[in-house]
Amino acid sequence: MSSTCDDPRIGFFDALAECWDEEEPSAEEMTARLREQAALLDLRAGEALLEVGCGTGKTTACLAGCVAPGRVTAVDFSPAMIEKARLKGVDADFACLDVCRDDLGEERYDVILCFHSFPHFRDQAAALRRFAKALKPAGRLIVMHLAGSGHINHFHASVEGAVCNDVLPVGEEWTPLLRQAGLRETKLIDRENLFFLQAVVGVD
Ligand SMILES: C[S@@+](CC[C@H](N)C(=O)[O-])C[C@H]1O[C@@H](n2cnc3c(N)ncnc32)[C@H](O)[C@@H]1O
Repeated sequence: MSSTCDDPRIGFFDALAECWDEEEPSAEEMTARLREQAALLDLRAGEALLEVGCGTGKTTACLAGCVAPGRVTAVDFSPAMIEKARLKGVDADFACLDVCRDDLGEERYDVILCFHSFPHFRDQAAALRRFAKALKPAGRLIVMHLAGSGHINHFHASVEGAVCNDVLPVGEEWTPLLRQAGLRETKLIDRENLFFLQAVVGVD
């Protein structure tokens, strides 16, 4: 599926794709930090995982290893990013799609992981509704950053271009956002070096 929407972030991330692998944190550091959080992530062999906003696939190999023989489907709406990710030859399925607009299927994934990507979704409510539909009944949505929301939001506000107004919701802001999608929060950690939100299908 191709992206044809006019979100200016597509061009913004396309332009960054060539040098994204040289940006901090490196793929090695990201992988090490993900492994440190293995208990929290709780990924299991055999799971179907949707990696949303995979960029150049810096984390895809690590995730694929965690769920093998399950599969990772890694998606991004920047054609340049997804092309670089594909070229790495990781045993995963890659697709160029827009999670605010495109169908992600129904009851297909055990885990949907938005790693360093959620603030950039132009319609976060629409994306969450698609995630709720695409999760299996016992599935989990995870929104994760290797920094707290204060740092993330300050950083984006300082960046020039299409992402300068992009925001990671904080605290209680998640409750109505998740609820309108038929999801509910089961864990929220927001500290200096980690943001971790987990939600499941169903409302209180
Ligand atoms: C900050 S980058 C993070 C990339 C990667 N997860 C990493 O940590 O290296 C955010 C990514 O989200 C993607 N993205 C933003 N909005 C999207 C959308 N609506 N659908 C799919 N991908 C999107 C961007 O193209 C970009 O590659």
